[in-house]
Amino acid sequence: MKHLLKMSDLTPAEVAHILDVADELKARQKAGGTEPLLKGKSVALMFSKNSTRTRTSFEVGVYQLGGLGNYMNAATELQSGRGEPLKDTARVLGRYYDCVVWRTYRQRDLEEFAEYAGVPVINGLTDYAHPCQVLADLMTIRESRGPLAGQKLCFVGDGSNMANSLIVGGLLAGMKVDCVCPHGYRPAADVLMFAHRYGSAFRLLEDPAEGVRDADAVVTAIWNTAAPGTTESESRLRDFAGFQLTSTLLKAAKPDCMVLHCLPAHRGEEISTAVFEAHADEIFTEAENRLHVQKAVLAVLLAEK
Ligand code: CP
Repeated sequence: MKHLLKMSDLTPAEVAHILDVADELKARQKAGGTEPLLKGKSVALMFSKNSTRTRTSFEVGVYQLGGLGNYMNAATELQSGRGEPLKDTARVLGRYYDCVVWRTYRQRDLEEFAEYAGVPVINGLTDYAHPCQVLADLMTIRESRGPLAGQKLCFVGDGSNMANSLIVGGLLAGMKVDCVCPHGYRPAADVLMFAHRYGSAFRLLEDPAEGVRDADAVVTAIWNTAAPGTTESESRLRDFAGFQLTSTLLKAAKPDCMVLHCLPAHRGEEISTAVFEAHADEIFTEAENRLHVQKAVLAVLLAEK
């Protein structure tokens, strides 16, 4: 693994290795601390968009591993926000830092950055992929329910970054994956091509009740990011009618089914307040596991080099 730009950068063995390292680092942290695996290393934490979990978990994670993490707002603080070419920013930061985490919009910008940086680059979220989140989701499911192979994962919502990454991550981990999206909100074409190689282990559905049936874990994410009252918001509310995780919908899942949400959540849209609160412990463990799994990604990319 040279970079972590999307889940398909990983092999099944690499996914399993990252999760094993994450479990180990979590246990060591709870027992009093981790060896300084990143001693002398520096990580640029570049954000072109808002973030609570990704930013803070990387900052704390790099600190706990004994490295230096520098947060930078790429839109308002760096010269890239005033037009400096991306590949120049990449070549400069690559000379100072051992690794760059970047949250941005377009996956192709991240890929271009990685091409020029000369150091490992980690996707902190793009419109296409959210691999750090999905590794945390897999860690959380495995931690609670045991080996992932054969378990049924169902994603209900918008076929964007979370769906794209969960489909690939779940299949790489040997899970059965159902992805339920309204017709106009399907996952990326290359992700569907990847998934169809797994035959009946993957299904793309439009009926949430069919998708959640007998699921071990159901995952959702925000599908209405538009400002309230806008045409876009109104049309999303219409298109996603019936896609809310409710207690009634989840009756079809296994009785002890986990419910995960990457956060932030819009209660009353993609998830009801009752379902959110009933599964809050799982959801906040999922958020905590961002810290542990990202430390594992950094350890694998940097400390084991
Ligand atoms: N889930 C997630 O990526 O959270 P943030 O947007 O707060 O980083």
